[in-house]
Amino acid sequence: MNKKIINVAIDGPAGAGKSTVSRAAAEKLGFVYVDTGALYRTVGVNALRLGVDTRDRQAVAATLDGVSVDLAFEDGAQKTLLNGEDVSGEIRTPAASMAASDVSAVPEVRAFLFDLQRDIAKRNSCIMDGRDIGTVVLPDAQVKIFLTASAEERAKRRCAELELKGTPQKYEDVLAEINERDYNDSHREIAPLKPAEDGVILDTTELNIEQVIEAITNIVKEKTEK
Ligand code: DC
Repeated sequence: MNKKIINVAIDGPAGAGKSTVSRAAAEKLGFVYVDTGALYRTVGVNALRLGVDTRDRQAVAATLDGVSVDLAFEDGAQKTLLNGEDVSGEIRTPAASMAASDVSAVPEVRAFLFDLQRDIAKRNSCIMDGRDIGTVVLPDAQVKIFLTASAEERAKRRCAELELKGTPQKYEDVLAEINERDYNDSHREIAPLKPAEDGVILDTTELNIEQVIEAITNIVKEKTEK
């Protein structure tokens, strides 16, 4: 790996605040922020558009034929492209979340997205967030952080976020969805969600966003300025 390129892997369960704090920490450090969940969401949206049952592994694998999924970075912001079309909004619906969780268990989908993620990290100092970045995608990342918080706290945060967006949802429903996705993501056979052995676990249940951003930038500086 080019010495000047620094890769920071941030993994953790749904709703731990990974994207918010990763984006802000990347900005502070002058790194590119790469949200890999967007890639799985895009494959999920493509499957939904094609009317495919996202739990049918073979059918999902078949949707990858000839499809193009890509990320573009403009002024530090990530745009997600499906066959060249910007789907950054469409991938954020609850249906896309569940479809993403389903398709992410399909080995062909993980293999399909692997090279793209590796290529971006090879070319850019970045904070890449996901579920298997420190364990599978970037096992040589200089910094690995596992960001977590209790399911209840994560549901509370997601509710506040949805409320702000003008699309409020019941706390019980949000909590149930988080528990279901946690279960799916950590029990799948391939690349299950788990902390990297050589990573730092950061429990954010009792921390506010600013404190988490500071903790992350401090960990990155500590590990890379030696
Ligand atoms: O982080 P997110 O909610 O946007 O992720 C959507 C889904 O994609 C999530 O259920 C788990 C999956 N995912 C994954 O398996 N591996 C990644 N590196 C990122 C996301």
